[in-house]
Amino acid sequence: MKSSVILLFCSISLIAVSGMVPAWATASSGAALAQNVCSACHGPDGNSLTPSFPKLAGQGEAYLIHSLKDFKSGRRSNPIMYSMAQTLTPSEMDSVAHFFSKQKMSPGTANPKLVALGQRIFRGGLPKQGVPACMACHGPDGMGNEPAAYPRLAGQWAPYLLEQLNAFAHGKRKSTNHGMMNYVAAHLTPAQMKAVASYLQGLH
Ligand code: HEC
Ligand code: HEC
Repeated sequence: MKSSVILLFCSISLIAVSGMVPAWATASSGAALAQNVCSACHGPDGNSLTPSFPKLAGQGEAYLIHSLKDFKSGRRSNPIMYSMAQTLTPSEMDSVAHFFSKQKMSPGTANPKLVALGQRIFRGGLPKQGVPACMACHGPDGMGNEPAAYPRLAGQWAPYLLEQLNAFAHGKRKSTNHGMMNYVAAHLTPAQMKAVASYLQGLH
């Protein structure tokens, strides 16, 4: 009787251990990397404290992996992220991207004066200027499109979004899918970029 109880207990713990180890190991290496390396700039949970560094919390996993590969190959040029990405293996990119995608992005606020114009551009685009609606690709709520690896924009720092729009407009950042973001950004005026970036920071 006593030995069968012990046996039962042992087999239950064995099942528990063998079932848990792989998930725990992946989560912990992503979490450990985030904590030890990325947190200095992007914050421990991917919510960076200053707009100079983009928030990674709640960003799409496929987009995060795509970005890390682009930094590593130099396709997306940034000196800091270039050297960061050199140290990461493909499986580390996967696990750190998985970790950040599961965190919750902290909400931001929009400048009330810019909301009307920003919302109009996001939802309807600017047909006369040939600008398509941002939500067509970035999702009706700005949460991105995971299967297509289109990034989430909702809640991201406005100054970072503005910087990226300028980089696209001037060809300093080259977008995938035949340069679609280069086309979009090149057709926005500086005031329109500012309005849509502010609107997006407040979107949640
Ligand atoms: C020393 C500061 C610093 C550290 C440490 C750092 N980053 Fe970055 N990261 C940046 C900066 C600056 C940018 C913006 C680059 C740009 O403007 O293109 C960025 C951008 C990114 C982006 C693109 C986000 C987007 O929305 O397109 C990803 C993904 C990223 N970092 C992942 C990581 C990961 C993963 C780590 C840890 C392994 C890490 N970073 C460590 C500074 C840093
Ligand atoms: C046809 C699809 C499409 C449309 C429409 C579109 N985007 Fe994008 N956007 C993308 C893709 C794809 C990327 C990622 C590009 C890459 O990393 O190569 C992107 C990236 C971005 C980024 C960079 C995000 C980051 O985290 O670095 C910003 C900012 C952005 N888009 C803003 C906008 C705004 C504002 C509009 C509307 C005026 C818009 N987009 C319309 C597809 C689109």
